[in-house]
Formats: sequence, C-alpha cells, structure tokens
Amino acid sequence: MAKAKYTTHIGMVDILPGEVEKWRALEAIIHEEAAKFNFEEIRTPILEQTELIVRGVGQLTDIVSKEIFAFKKGDSHYVLRPELTAPVVRSYVQHHLNQRGGSQKLYYIGPMFRAEKPQKGRQRQFHQFGVEIMGSNDPVADVECIAFMMRIYQRIGIENFELKVNSVGDPESREAYKTALRDYLGPNLDKLSEVSQKRFEKNPMRILDSKEAEDQEFIKQAPVIRDFLNEETEEHFENVLAYLDDLSISYTEDPYLVRGMDYYTRTAFELTSPDLGSQDALAGGGRYDLLVEEIGGPSTPAVGFAAGMERLLIACEELDIKLAEPKSVDVYFVSLGDEARKWALTHLPKAREAGISTTMDYMGRSMKAQMKDANRENADYAVIVGSNELAEGKFTLRNMRESEEMSLSFDQIIEKLASR
Ligand code: HAM
Repeated sequence: MAKAKYTTHIGMVDILPGEVEKWRALEAIIHEEAAKFNFEEIRTPILEQTELIVRGVGQLTDIVSKEIFAFKKGDSHYVLRPELTAPVVRSYVQHHLNQRGGSQKLYYIGPMFRAEKPQKGRQRQFHQFGVEIMGSNDPVADVECIAFMMRIYQRIGIENFELKVNSVGDPESREAYKTALRDYLGPNLDKLSEVSQKRFEKNPMRILDSKEAEDQEFIKQAPVIRDFLNEETEEHFENVLAYLDDLSISYTEDPYLVRGMDYYTRTAFELTSPDLGSQDALAGGGRYDLLVEEIGGPSTPAVGFAAGMERLLIACEELDIKLAEPKSVDVYFVSLGDEARKWALTHLPKAREAGISTTMDYMGRSMKAQMKDANRENADYAVIVGSNELAEGKFTLRNMRESEEMSLSFDQIIEKLASR
C-alpha cells in the first residue's frame, strides 16, 4: 500500500472503528461506577493558560520542563493540558464550586498531552479518567478515591496489580525529611547520576524516583519519610491504611514512592501492573491540600487520582479480556432493482423507529455481492426485496447465523425482530 502523505503526529493515534467500541464500553463502565459513588462529571477545555500548569504542576517537574505542548497566540500563552488536576482546581476556583456546599466529588474522562518519547503504553496524546474530591480533609475521602479506582479494574476483571501507598508529608515534615535526605546523600553526591545531582538541592525527594542504575544502591538505604511525619500527618496516614484494611484493599507501603507533580501533600499512591512492561503505572494520585490556595482559591484540602486508559486497554489485551462484542447490525436490506431499492430506503426508518438497527447497499451491487456485504457487516438477518416480493407484499427474512429463511410481511418482520 502506498504511504499516506498526511499522517498523525508521532505519539498520537487514531482510534478507529473496531477499537472505538472498547473505548465506549470502558467509558460506560466509568460513568456507571461514578454514578454509584455519587461523583459528578466535569469537562474542561483542552487548552489552559501556561501559567496555571506551571504553577499547578510545578516548574521543575518533567512535565513542565520537558513535556508540555505550549504555544502563543496574540498575547496569550496556551498549553495543551498535560493532566487534569490543575485545570479542575482552576475550574473549582473560577466557578466558586465550594459554594455548592459539602465536598465536591468530581470525575472526568478525556485526552491529555505530554511530549514524551513514545513507546508501548506511552503516547503524546493519551487518555485519562480520574477523580478529584475537593473540600475534605478526612482520610475517608482518600480511601473512597482509591476504592473507586480499584472498582473500575475489578469490574473489568483486571486483578493482578500492586497498590503502593506512601505519605509524602506536609510542608513541615517534608522540609525535615529533605534535610535528612541531603545529609544522607551529600557525601556520595558525585556517585549519583547526573539528573539526581541536579535534583539534589531543589528537590532531593525526586531522586527517590530515579530509574538510573547508579542511584539504586543509595535509594535502597535512604532514610524514610515516615520517620519525619508530624503527629497529624502520621495519624492521617495511619487512618488511610486502617480504612484500606477495613475495605480489604491490599497494598504495599512504599516509603520511596514520590509522584511526578509538585502539588502532592500527605497521601500518595500508585497502581502498577506486571502485565504492562516498562510503562507499568496504571494509575496514580494523592492529596494536594495546598493547590487550591496556590491557584488563588480558599484553603481547601483535596485528593484525587488519574488512570491511563490506553494502559488499561493494553492490560485487557494481555489478559484476553473482551470489553466489547464485535460490531453487528440487526438487519441488512438486500434490494434488487430501482423500485426495491426505493422501497428499502423508505422502510429503513420504520425499522429504526422500532429500535432495529438496519442498513442497505449504497453501491448498486448484485444480490450476491449484497449478501456478501451483509456477512461482512455481521448482520443477524437479511431481508431480500425484489419485484416478486414487492408484488406479493411478502419478503424473505434470512437468519444469517443459522441460514434459515421464512417469508413474512414487513410488519411481521418488524414484530419478529423487535421482540428479540
Ligand atoms: P500521572 O501519574 O501523571 O498523574 O498520570 C496518571 C496515569 O496516566 C499514569 O499512571 C498513566 O497510566 C497515565 N499516563 C501518564 N502519562 C502517560 C502517557 N504519556 N501515555 C499514556 N498514559 C500515560 C496525573 O496525571 C495526576 N493528575 C493524577 C492525580 C489526580 N493526582 C491527583 N489527582
């Protein structure tokens, strides 16, 4: 086949018919489960102000320093949203959603954009679903968030994963921990990888997230943040773990789990899957109690997570989980001659009104070719219409799966198909 002149950008993919059905099935599950948790959907624009993302996600993060798609139009600086926590917070502040009372339980589904090096499970345009619960300090909110995330995978049948949890502390405990980390890593600074050396001063906790081989032996022995948590933060974390136990949600406490955005405080978690290869994070999230204020809103504790939908679908494939049936159509009208074609065209709407999905030939093909097309379209039935059938008012209804035929009036056909 000749190579197309115009193609998608690197790391961006078309979701074609045949694939779309899986996406719709997944989206339906997310909407259904969100309703059971009483989460409300929020939809925000794809473009956000650059400054929101820089302030929200953090200037020094990989996302902001390397991965955002940014451009300028007139005097405005835009980015394609790389994630949805900062935009949802922006929307919460802009529309004073706190005034609706209680905690706001929001969820979303949509495309995100990060200029990363594409590989399996890592794209430049990818999709997330996620939740943001705004206005609650209670560990119950953290655990409901995690429970919703787990519920989606459980419902789909993905059970082989690891939930890692940690507390990244509040600013006070984090400062104490960062000092301890610098004291510990400092004497070996020249043995650390170049990236880690760069992170040492401003953000030594990110060194814990390093995948570089030379850093690993130092990370393994590093002090753990839990020893530096103040009483309140420790108590919050203990409650989160206790509620997870109460819900029989298994987890591993990972003292070195840090997340890629600067907004996290206290609870942090990640769900990884051994079925995914190197891009093994299915989902991640945590608390961000200071972000709403940082963005200009009232002091508002919050917690959330986001999950990669492409990665979830890759896991389904690896596990042979079918999210959607192959596409089919109830009935294909096979018509011979102009009059029959016109009859078919004008009877399609009547069938559709009765809730039956139908189609017909658009290419003036022979009966044999139309029957072949009905098979290709995976039709359950074919109705065969020729001049004899029109004269008699009886048509051949062919069950394509069982190769059985019967002669029926149009009304009888509709009645039979509608009552299936
Ligand atoms: P994140 O860990 O950056 O968190 O992304 C969440 C998930 O999105 C990842 O675990 C992964 O499954 C998927 N993902 C991320 N980047 C890519 C990519 N390039 N290609 C494919 N999938 C990807 C956040 O985005 C936070 N906003 C989560 C959050 C919500 N925290 C609090 N509230």
